[in-house]
Amino acid sequence: MTKPEDPNRVLIFDTTLRDGEQSPGISLNTQEKLEIAGQLARLGVDVIEAGFPITSPGDFEAVQEIARRVVDPVPPVIAGLARTHAADIDAAWNAVKDAARPRIHTFISTSDIHIRHQLQTTREDVKGQARAAVAHAKQYLDDVEFSPMDATRADVEFTAEVCQIAIDEGATTINIPDTVGYTMPHEYTAYLERLYELVPGLRDVVLSVHCHDDLGLAVANSFAGLRAGARQVECAINGIGERAGNASLEEIVMLLHTRQADVGLNTRVNTREIARTSRLVSRLTGYSVQPNKAIIGRNAFAHESGIHQDGVLKERTTYEIMDATTVGLEANSIVLGKHSGRHALQQALAELGVEAKGQTLNTAFKRFKEIADKKKQVTAMDLEALLTDELREEIVGFQLEWFDVEASSRRPPHATVGIRTPEGGEATGSFTGDGPVDAIFRAINAATGRDAKLREFRVDAVTGGQDALGETSVVLELGGVSGSGQGVSTDILEAAGRAYVRALSSAVRRQSITTEAVAATATAAEPIPAP
Ligand code: KIV
Ligand code: ZN
Repeated sequence: MTKPEDPNRVLIFDTTLRDGEQSPGISLNTQEKLEIAGQLARLGVDVIEAGFPITSPGDFEAVQEIARRVVDPVPPVIAGLARTHAADIDAAWNAVKDAARPRIHTFISTSDIHIRHQLQTTREDVKGQARAAVAHAKQYLDDVEFSPMDATRADVEFTAEVCQIAIDEGATTINIPDTVGYTMPHEYTAYLERLYELVPGLRDVVLSVHCHDDLGLAVANSFAGLRAGARQVECAINGIGERAGNASLEEIVMLLHTRQADVGLNTRVNTREIARTSRLVSRLTGYSVQPNKAIIGRNAFAHESGIHQDGVLKERTTYEIMDATTVGLEANSIVLGKHSGRHALQQALAELGVEAKGQTLNTAFKRFKEIADKKKQVTAMDLEALLTDELREEIVGFQLEWFDVEASSRRPPHATVGIRTPEGGEATGSFTGDGPVDAIFRAINAATGRDAKLREFRVDAVTGGQDALGETSVVLELGGVSGSGQGVSTDILEAAGRAYVRALSSAVRRQSITTEAVAATATAAEPIPAP
């Protein structure tokens, strides 16, 4: 990607599907990644880092599908991550090459702590690897990004030497990661200013920032980077990512938007798509958003104290610096009921950016009718939740077919469940538990022959009101591997069962990926570390 002509234009590089997907317990399959990538394109991000293709056939396939299919409304740059090894770069190229705008992002650490202990090599070797990697990538395409990993804990002079090499070999973006979230805003600014002095050619390429949130400074550091001259921010929806996560996309974008008059920087993001993107990522990853999270938390625009409510009723700006509609939180216009027909549903889905026809429309309509029978009004938020739920139905290994629960305050609850197995058979299981939800979960364990342990369980309402759809979220552990899942239904027990079955399927899938990876690395020269 060439440097934008507008010096105030900030490129938004979304790494939800790469760094974000490295969060513990998240395991998205190709279809889910495609869904998220499509929404990121609608949101208007400039670059989608779609994955790390060498790490597994599944990652490769997902990046390739995204490269081929995510083109609307404007084709974003599709980036694939690669270590400096030729095989990584070849895999990244093969995965992204069908994109309208492909990018290879290659990285190697420049901190002594990583060079000595992790890479177990020398600074000279790192320079050689960086040179070879960028040169190799440049044989394939023009748009090459280089990252000196753990840069903020590295000697700035040495990092500058490595960046100079990358630029000499043709890197078009230089990204300076705060890999372990250690730096402070004033230090990061000073580091980048010094790099500009040491590497004058940095002014001819795009300088990028990639900050982790270990000390809660990811957005502040990213902003400090922009003030020092960076014009690409690497960030993730809902701030997900390794450990404490990455800079949150919605926060950095809304900071630039809200304080535009003072800061003078702009992005191409359609801020009205923020809330929907956040909800989709939360549902598919199973990572919920804390209620008081800036911009997208459910309390971000709620006023509790009487004085605040009074002020907002008189004039919104008394206590609100942003309008909720700007981030897509408007009271949605779509309201369907039990008399709404197939066509009305199709139109409502189209408004949500989903083209439903044929079998997809039939399935969506059947599920919609079930809900509409129990719930007076079906809103856009309900439809979104259902769509995501339906999407999951096609991909999971086990499925909850039916359940019976006997619950009473006078004896322990008993549950029996019927589970469809990935092979198409039905297995049943029963359990007498501490509570009805516990009984269902353990009955599912019995039916599937798995001894999963529940780690987290949450219930939320999709919308307000007594007849709201319930959305449940489960994180469990199976033999040291975690899995997460969500479920939606007007019946909380059913939603809980669905979420548990999905979490279990995800853990089983992750177990088999881990086993394959172990088998592969037993023969490969070295394991694939997650950056
Ligand atoms: O945090 C990090 O350093 C990374 C790099 C691969 C950019 O994620
Ligand atoms: Zn990172």
